[in-house]
Amino acid sequence: MAEREPYPELQQESKESDLSRLPNTTLISDPLPLPPGYTFVDSPPSLRTYLDLRRLTGLTPKTDAQGEGALSGSWVFCTVLYQDQNRPVSEAEVVAMGRVIGDGGWYFVIADMAVHLAHQRKGLGEAVLRRLIARIKEQAPPGALVTLSADEKGRALYRRCGFVESAPKSVGMWLDL
Ligand SMILES: CC(C)(COP(=O)(O)OP(=O)(O)OC[C@H]1O[C@@H](n2cnc3c(N)ncnc32)[C@H](O)[C@@H]1OP(=O)(O)O)[C@@H](O)C(=O)NCCC(=O)NCCS
Repeated sequence: MAEREPYPELQQESKESDLSRLPNTTLISDPLPLPPGYTFVDSPPSLRTYLDLRRLTGLTPKTDAQGEGALSGSWVFCTVLYQDQNRPVSEAEVVAMGRVIGDGGWYFVIADMAVHLAHQRKGLGEAVLRRLIARIKEQAPPGALVTLSADEKGRALYRRCGFVESAPKSVGMWLDL
């Protein structure tokens, strides 16, 4: 397909590697159930929660204006709500999030993967990632390219879910404005 010309080899490599890394017949778009007390919400958090969750998890702090763009301009947003059984329902809190920036056709970027420190290492990160990828598979035509910038803390998770490094074929580059 002409639309996939920029990364033909990368596409080929990733498809093979993804499948070889996944256990048995599990697909990366298969859902991972959340532990008790946790619920998916397929919509953005509030601006304050978004900014706080980024800051609290060590991601670079963003301004209100930047956060507003992220919340309104994403293709898909997924959050995880935690309800402590001993607290009122009104105190349920967003403890994890992830989003997809995408063109709806073939190019998708996963961003803002963050799980509150108190809720890490319970599978929430993987569950969010799987859900985002499932949404892309469901809603985009076949042949989507899913990319992300993997910070140190997220690398094991992304590798486990089948992501492979694009280098040396294609090296990620960025420009801060
Ligand atoms: C990266 C991040 C999103 C992962 O979230 P998470 O919810 O802890 O992810 P998971 O629980 O799915 O997986 C993390 C680890 O917990 C383990 N785990 C999963 N369920 C578990 C359980 N029930 N008991 C014990 N360990 C468990 C996983 O095997 C995994 O181990 P590994 O990293 O050694 O491979 C989280 O660490 C985070 O928010 N980091 C700060 C922000 C950041 O760097 N984001 C990434 C930007 S690219």
